[in-house]
Amino acid sequence: MTQAYAQIVGWGRYVPSRILTNHDLAQMVDTSDEWIRSRTGILERRMAGPKESSSTMGARAAMAALEVADLAPSRLDLIICATITPDYPLAATASLIQDAIGATHAGAFDLNAGCSSFVYAISVGAQYIASGAARNVLIVGADTISRILDWTDRATCVLFGDGAGAVVLRMSEHPTGVLHCVLGSDGSGAESLYIPAGGSRLPASAETIQAKQHFVKMDGHEVFRFAVTAMSQAATQAIAGAGLKPDDIDLFIPHQANVRIIQSAARALRLPMERVFVNVDRYGNTSSASVPLALCEAVEQGRLRQGDRLVMVGFGAGLTWAAAVVQWGVPASAARRPWWRTLVQKVWGQQAIVGSAIRRGRRRISAMRVPTVIPTDDDEEPSRKR
Ligand code: ACO
Repeated sequence: MTQAYAQIVGWGRYVPSRILTNHDLAQMVDTSDEWIRSRTGILERRMAGPKESSSTMGARAAMAALEVADLAPSRLDLIICATITPDYPLAATASLIQDAIGATHAGAFDLNAGCSSFVYAISVGAQYIASGAARNVLIVGADTISRILDWTDRATCVLFGDGAGAVVLRMSEHPTGVLHCVLGSDGSGAESLYIPAGGSRLPASAETIQAKQHFVKMDGHEVFRFAVTAMSQAATQAIAGAGLKPDDIDLFIPHQANVRIIQSAARALRLPMERVFVNVDRYGNTSSASVPLALCEAVEQGRLRQGDRLVMVGFGAGLTWAAAVVQWGVPASAARRPWWRTLVQKVWGQQAIVGSAIRRGRRRISAMRVPTVIPTDDDEEPSRKR
């Protein structure tokens, strides 16, 4: 059997239209544009509207990625949604995206590894393809961090933003695409970046709400120190695992948390900043969306050409880290969208909405028909009783 490789053949992104600048934040908490800019490199970030959530943003990014891949949603085998802000605690956001885009033949699950989730999901999706279990895998990174922030805590609320990005992985016989991945975790640092309540250890109560324990708590210094080491070590290991040297890497796409962390990691890898992609200035830390948003913008800006090698690196809550070395296998022209492709995609979108409405309607009708009382032995016909 020939070896199967997971090639990135589609990419897409979505960010909400509302922009929150550092100056806006200075009206809300005791901070300044100068402090945020100099400590993080962030100038502005996007905020989800009242009708937006991780699944709605993720579905928009997914449809854009499918359009570039020229793939009908029904041909997807698997959807993995990387997220730390699912729409619901129960019922995976991946399933909501599967329904919204009409991917009627796909399995779907969420993956939470903090801000490393997207790179973790790339590794999982690539393994499904390498094993032959799937041909077309959609990886979505979507987060609505604005909903889990304490907007009175200046140490955290200035750092994050909302958004989504997605890629389509397709089975290929050519040795391109995902070449090597490295995953890691150190749970002894879990409490340096976490949400204390709302899980099984401390369920929601009036007291937890009063104590603001449903919001992100972070030890910024601790996470900063960890991030620089984790990013450079994970990237070094992944590059070596792919049989390459840092010099062979054309583009480094790090998790966009803080430009100072990115610069320190690049220094440790001896990579010049011209080979590092940065867009944290416009979006802040979008968690699971940060790496795919950066990847999409890198392609749009012509920073990736066929044959280029890139390394995507994440770090985050858990604590976790992950790196993936990828050889870019598609020509830039793949992103050009002829008018008819956009039209076909609109039809798929309408089909998905109608299909979902029909399935929901059928479910309601069958719920009316099927008795809700489960028959017991006593309910059996007398003749069948022993
Ligand atoms: N505006 C003004 N002053 C502030 C603000 C703010 N927004 N936030 C903190 N300060 C103050 C502090 O209170 C402190 O004041 P003090 O000296 O009087 O006590 C001072 O500024 C310096 O604070 P430091 O924490 O030393 O600032 P530092 O240079 O370390 O930057 C930061 C803080 C930006 C949070 C940095 O530590 C960092 O980026 N850490 C990593 C965070 C991160 O990447 N998190 C995401 C992980 S990914 C995931 O899974 C979600």
